[in-house]
Amino acid sequence: MDQLVAPTPQPACGASGEQNVDVLGQPCFRQPAPIAYDVPMTPPISPGHSENGSRGALRVDQDMEPDCQQETPCSTSTAADSGGARDSLECCFTHEQHPPTPPNKPPRLLEDEPVGLAEPGVLKLSDFEVRGTLGTGTFGRVLLVRLKTITPGYHSIFAMKVLRKSEVVRLRQVEHVNAERHILSRLRHPFVVDLFATFQDSLNIYMLMSYVPGGELFTHLRRARRFTPDVTRFYLANIILALKYLHSFNVIYRDLKPENLLLDPCGYLCLTDFGFAKVVDDRTWTLCGTPEYLAPEIILSEGHGKAVDWWACGILCYEMLVGYPPFFDETPYGIYDKILNGNVHWPRSVDRLSQELIQAFLRPDRSKRLGNMIGGPQDVLEHPWFRGVDWDALERREIKAPIIPHTTSLDDTRHFLHLPFPSLHDMPGLLAEEDSPPLHKSLQFPDF
Ligand SMILES: Nc1ncnc2c1ncn2[C@@H]1O[C@H](COP(=O)(O)OP(=O)(O)O)[C@@H](O)[C@H]1O
Ligand SMILES: [Mg+2]
Repeated sequence: MDQLVAPTPQPACGASGEQNVDVLGQPCFRQPAPIAYDVPMTPPISPGHSENGSRGALRVDQDMEPDCQQETPCSTSTAADSGGARDSLECCFTHEQHPPTPPNKPPRLLEDEPVGLAEPGVLKLSDFEVRGTLGTGTFGRVLLVRLKTITPGYHSIFAMKVLRKSEVVRLRQVEHVNAERHILSRLRHPFVVDLFATFQDSLNIYMLMSYVPGGELFTHLRRARRFTPDVTRFYLANIILALKYLHSFNVIYRDLKPENLLLDPCGYLCLTDFGFAKVVDDRTWTLCGTPEYLAPEIILSEGHGKAVDWWACGILCYEMLVGYPPFFDETPYGIYDKILNGNVHWPRSVDRLSQELIQAFLRPDRSKRLGNMIGGPQDVLEHPWFRGVDWDALERREIKAPIIPHTTSLDDTRHFLHLPFPSLHDMPGLLAEEDSPPLHKSLQFPDF
């Protein structure tokens, strides 16, 4: 435990409505979400997961950028200062501790990519009708919406991520939300969710995305208990190609986990939730992620880069093959301790080559971690565990997926939790066009 980072992350319970334990082991509130499945679901088998089958999604997110002007290493502001449910802590390291390293230029620049958002005026918030809730997250919720007008070039059904401005500001997520928009509006890849438009009203910001109807990989994994190596290979290969694409722009994702991986109608994975994605030419010190998936360098505040996504690939691969993640505990601190100890238990069902692959991703020494060595992602593609994978055919989506989610209409939501219908009064811009009320400066999001 001594090795753990000095800053104490605070409970991340609140807007998500999810129950979890905080980093100190105190229970946080979670509304029990009713689950409706078309086949019986196996009980959650991971001790790291709560009774309703959802991950204890404690998110630690504290900005600790070294490039702030402060000379003292850490300054904390309490919940009372920030008016928030968790303490907010900014930790700035002196440059002696972290000497700058030359930035690493990406093969392509995100800025050179066309922005794939609708032209201003083509779509407006009040053009959409809410059909239901698909998911709840840390700062808001994701809705299923229908475009009421016939607009050339657009389908009628979408997912709309709604983030409460006051929560985003209170939890100091403004930069993350702007980065999510900036990055997602420029990425176009078959395994990455599309962002079509963003909006804001007096209370919320909105992100209009493609609706990915097959549900979370998390749901399918819990139902199956665990996947065979062939099924795991298919999904992991999807993710490897998505990460290779993201990393080619120096975009790190930082929130890989089955909850953020959705199945599209053909059964391919689609990466959603770019709330922690960031363009990083060198290293960053932002402490964020989900405890079970955090790389040691994040826990140790050593500065981190693309290698954290490859570490998370090892965790994900293990979780798919075994049914629960390799490092779990009642409390996040217990999880961090296990991650730093590095002992992985191998059930007999995990074959030698799969163990080798996972161990290659779970190297604490980043210079020896698969995906992060001189050969980059190509080393992963060429690993013997992936022998026989036709990567080009996979990227062209020509390979039959192991699970084809059954749906009967464009707005079929059978693969998602049945969550309560949202209160539309909390989303005034969706009800009618708002006369622009004078907004407090801190609640304006100029990019949206
Ligand atoms: N494009 C989408 N299509 C369908 N469901 C989605 C989509 N995006 C998100 N969801 C659902 O909403 C949940 C929360 O969204 P997410 O972006 O992960 O929010 P958070 O950042 O709060 O975790 C996801 O886990 C998923 O179940
Ligand atoms: Mg998420």
